[in-house]
Amino acid sequence: MSKYWYKNAVIYSLHVESFMDADGDGIGDFKGLTRSLDYLAGLGVSCVWLLPFFPSPNRDHGYDISDYLNVDQKFGTLGHFVEFVDAAEEYGIRVIIDLVLNHTSVDHPWFQEARKNKNSKYYNYYIWLDEKPANSHEDIIFAHHQDGNWEYDEVAGQYFYHTFYQHQPDLNITNPDVQEEIRYILQFWLKLGISGFRMDAVPHMLRNKGKSKFKGDPFKFLRDLRSFIQDQRNDAILLAEVDTEPEKYEDFFGQGDQVQMLFNFYLNNYIYLALARKSGKPIAKALKDIPQTSIKEQMGTFIRNHDELDLERLTKKEREEVFKAFAPEPNMQIYGRGIRRRLAPMLGNNRAWIELTYSLLFSLPGTPVLRYGDEIGMGDDLSLEERNSVRTTMQWSMENHGGFSASKKQDIPLPAIKDGKNGYKKINVHDQMRNPKSLLNWMERAISVRKECREFGWGDYELIKTNNDRVLAHFCHWQNGHTLAVHNFNNKACEVKLRLTKDQADHLIECFADRRYTPFDVSTRILKLGPFGYRWFRRSSLFL
Ligand code: GLC
Repeated sequence: MSKYWYKNAVIYSLHVESFMDADGDGIGDFKGLTRSLDYLAGLGVSCVWLLPFFPSPNRDHGYDISDYLNVDQKFGTLGHFVEFVDAAEEYGIRVIIDLVLNHTSVDHPWFQEARKNKNSKYYNYYIWLDEKPANSHEDIIFAHHQDGNWEYDEVAGQYFYHTFYQHQPDLNITNPDVQEEIRYILQFWLKLGISGFRMDAVPHMLRNKGKSKFKGDPFKFLRDLRSFIQDQRNDAILLAEVDTEPEKYEDFFGQGDQVQMLFNFYLNNYIYLALARKSGKPIAKALKDIPQTSIKEQMGTFIRNHDELDLERLTKKEREEVFKAFAPEPNMQIYGRGIRRRLAPMLGNNRAWIELTYSLLFSLPGTPVLRYGDEIGMGDDLSLEERNSVRTTMQWSMENHGGFSASKKQDIPLPAIKDGKNGYKKINVHDQMRNPKSLLNWMERAISVRKECREFGWGDYELIKTNNDRVLAHFCHWQNGHTLAVHNFNNKACEVKLRLTKDQADHLIECFADRRYTPFDVSTRILKLGPFGYRWFRRSSLFL
């Protein structure tokens, strides 16, 4: 199997809790997920990213882990997990899992032991101080919920460091004992058949905090992880959450010896600015700012994830523009920097606009990462707190709880959206399966063509000059494959002249579009596009 499978993959992220409940207790589980594999295979997904499913008091949606080497019993057992990974492999679907090493839950036995006993080896698993430092607010993530980075612990009689919520003490990653524990975690899950990890909060892990200081280069930690996982399994990957300026991306990739993939938060932000401005220019700017990855590295491109849509990579003014367009009410915004809505309602459920956005996702350089429910246009529930608004259960059918659970209870821990334009009575998988024109069927086709046009994933890209700022045109090349994608960000039809060389313009065959267009006129290089129209062309297979 190729070590570089991630270069042309389609990743689908989901939380076991909200996907499919097989035992009827109102909580999704591994058995339900295993049953849903036919669906995921039909959609064309090639890798599933599982959000944390480990034992946890669940104060941060599972990102507060109390045991790294187990499955939370509400989702099933390790046996059910292995059954799922095995079944996924039968379908050709890989599994990657969340790896949260920056912090544990306060409930983790390591922390419980550490706070009680300064002589125990677990004490140095965390970061302690007797006195709160003068600057105790260096890196606050959840401004409204955190009073600084240092929290007093009554039992220890000391302050411990936390980057995120105060129930998530940071691990002292510089401690060799902690590094050994990390190796057990990696080895354990790799042995159970997974293809890698989505690493949480990576830049935060590599910072010096209090007395926890890296000796020498902090990125050596990533090199050690990479070499360790590849010794276990040579196709295993690290996909890192690194929400920083693009100039720093190279620091995390290293010389092809650190992480293989990074989420492209920068491009994500500029996609929203482009949608808000109805112009292709912000994306062209972002692409120019981001270094092109080497052949062994890859960016994970995405539209939405399980968190707030964090717009910190934009300027204040640009962020305000996006807020104005897509989150005009205060309740739609969160943490002073983001939006707690899903894409479909942000775009007013405008099908053409949604298609444009995903056509863009599938054709931009990188590997697309989808979020469950996006393929049917699921919405958000703004009556729920914080990021829960975008974490409602999967909408399978018109039945009670949207077909997610057979539970007879009215209230289940994670609700489904019942009413309104995005409720399960209007938007669900089974309705869309039967409708050839549905978003779900469109998504299947889009994924299939995307995988065929492998130069989007593997290749270099080139921006094509046009006479219309509303339009983004880019060409991707890899080996002898060439694909051109043209997107109209405006809600009005247009004509655009593309500055293509003769070589580039010859033998282009249209392979994907929002409608049937008259063929591209090579002599004029003028292309027609409908409102929010998009067209992909591939150099004819005769010439590949
Ligand atoms: C990451 C996760 C987020 C979580 C945080 C703390 O940013 O994506 O959901 O709250 O880490 O673990």
